[in-house]
Amino acid sequence: MMELELLERPRRLRSNPALRAMVRETRISADTIIYPLFVMEGENSKEEIVSMPGQYRYSIDRLGEVLDQVVDAGVKSILIFGIPAYKDPQGSSAWDSEGIVQRALRYIKKNYPQLYCITDVCMCEYTSHGHCGILQGTYVDNDKTLDVLSKTALSHVQAGADMVAPSDMMDGRILALRKTLDSSGFVTTPIMSYAVKYASGYYGPFRDAADSAPAFGDRKSYQMDFHNRREALREAALDVAEGADILMVKPGLAYLDIVRDVKERFEKPLAVYSVSGEYSMIKAAGAANYIDQDDIICESSVAAYRAGADMLITYFAKELAGFIREGRIG
Ligand code: PBG
Ligand code: ZN
Repeated sequence: MMELELLERPRRLRSNPALRAMVRETRISADTIIYPLFVMEGENSKEEIVSMPGQYRYSIDRLGEVLDQVVDAGVKSILIFGIPAYKDPQGSSAWDSEGIVQRALRYIKKNYPQLYCITDVCMCEYTSHGHCGILQGTYVDNDKTLDVLSKTALSHVQAGADMVAPSDMMDGRILALRKTLDSSGFVTTPIMSYAVKYASGYYGPFRDAADSAPAFGDRKSYQMDFHNRREALREAALDVAEGADILMVKPGLAYLDIVRDVKERFEKPLAVYSVSGEYSMIKAAGAANYIDQDDIICESSVAAYRAGADMLITYFAKELAGFIREGRIG
């Protein structure tokens, strides 16, 4: 056999599982996984979301079922979405102290005090027209929306939210929320900003889940155009200047270039949201046996961290925490 003068042999470090684990470059921990959860009005209800098999909307009295699973899996934080019984053009049930998210928070904080509760702050689940803010004609009025978002965020925090996450993409919302929270004595409550959120077809199943599809038009006048990359940095820079504590990029898998850009440019913890469409595609392809679902969950989740995520919001949170515990990834 020919004697090669080959000094670098990358395969040397791949020859043994213990060694491969030792030289692994991306480490992930269940501490950094966030599980999104849909809470609805009503009693004794658990409804499967048709386009998201395995994900459900729960009434408050059935929440314990999923919260037990979350805690058992070792997932420590949840992102709460509410589905109200009543919608109007102003989305007034969003800031009702007896609203769905507010009551869910009080229930969770009482029964699962160890769970860290983040709330999504947006109007689209509460407005009859399904847009993320207050309409002026058919245009979503930026500054009027800031008032209702601020009221909503404050009511979440008053009901026990540990962190608020505004997802509306209005200009100036981080500053508006920060001022409102600070002047009400909540200076220590962090804001996770959906700083870089694209207008995306990947949110389709979510709108089904949250009953929040816009009745007319689309969200392109407030969410970002997916052709744009530098604009992502401008959005992130503004939110940092306005006092965001954590930045988020959303969706995940199709936007990992943006994740890397934001990570390199800003010294803030970075969250990636692996959104509903990403979940549904993996579930559908897995159910058809076109792919190995669990392999793809592992690979795409690690990809988000490798790109720069410090934390990952994913509907696969429970499964992912299990794979880490089993040593399959991590
Ligand atoms: C509310 C909101 C949406 C998502 C998170 N918050 C929907 C949207 O902007 O249309 C999407 C989450 C997902 O698809 O999993 N604005
Ligand atoms: Zn919205």
